Amino acid sequence: MKQLIEAIKKLKQEKNAVILAHYYTRGEIQDVADFVGDSLALAQWASKTDADILVMCGVHFMGETAKILCPDKKVLVPDMNAGCSLADSCPADRFAAFVKEHPDCTVISYVNTTAAVKALTDVVVTSSNARKIVESLPKEEKIIFGPDRNLGSYINAVTGRNMLLWDGACHVHEQFSAEKIAELKQAHPEAVTLAHPECKKAVVELADVVGSTAALLNYAVAHPEKTYIVATESGILHEMEKRCPHTTFLPVPPAEGTSPCNECSYMRLNTLEKVYDCLKNEAPEIFVDPAVAEQAVKPIHRMLQMS
Ligand code: 13P
Ligand code: SF4
Repeated sequence: MKQLIEAIKKLKQEKNAVILAHYYTRGEIQDVADFVGDSLALAQWASKTDADILVMCGVHFMGETAKILCPDKKVLVPDMNAGCSLADSCPADRFAAFVKEHPDCTVISYVNTTAAVKALTDVVVTSSNARKIVESLPKEEKIIFGPDRNLGSYINAVTGRNMLLWDGACHVHEQFSAEKIAELKQAHPEAVTLAHPECKKAVVELADVVGSTAALLNYAVAHPEKTYIVATESGILHEMEKRCPHTTFLPVPPAEGTSPCNECSYMRLNTLEKVYDCLKNEAPEIFVDPAVAEQAVKPIHRMLQMS
């Protein structure tokens, strides 16, 4: 592993490449990355880097967002099959029909969407800035929010809006169990419960802190003396434990009878071997249809300005 890490670092330097990693990727990938962050931070970082090559260790839509923001750079992903069930829950043709049915609505899309869906959107949001962006719009504005029904209903609840929601969800966050959280809370009454807003309403309602991966991490870093029950993808525990080595983090298991782990199988497709191969071969590379990118970049820029 040490040799592989050295080889990756050498290739990175030779090719003026940078590695960006999401908090849900394997710990060894986060450790070799130049930058680790949540979806918003990854997009912000991609928009600013002067590297020639970007290796996006996350999922496909993150690579696409980086390519849309930096069309002249080579954007590589370690595994082209690293998709996202939430993005898949919103096919562009069906979303276009939904938007057409509501021509008086402003369209807000979560960043977990394909470039084609972003091209149909007025403002992109992430879980870091969704509340702020929705609150910045006039109260009477009619809004379509897609594709995550859980994040959408959470934003409706905290802002008092009544956005029309697309019926999509993330297969990992849907599985966190309110019953398991209640059991953990009973066993650890002093613990603070952290939940990602992609979790179901019953889970979010049990949480003390609801936020993006970066927001949950920052909360723990600011209060390392507490114990935490963590309801989001377990990859985040790597950075939490690194930054708060003396803190206890208790990952919430999924409900009985569902998938055996609380890991995103797409994120786990990223491995150090594939990072090395993709840097060496400069492939697989992300391409976005320029006509789609021309439309999709506008709501992403709008988000970056409003964040
Ligand atoms: P954030 O990094 O914005 O919290 O999003 C989580 C996620 O599901 C990424 O796929
Ligand atoms: Fe998509 Fe869910 Fe995986 Fe995030 S955790 S990349 S929303 S499938």
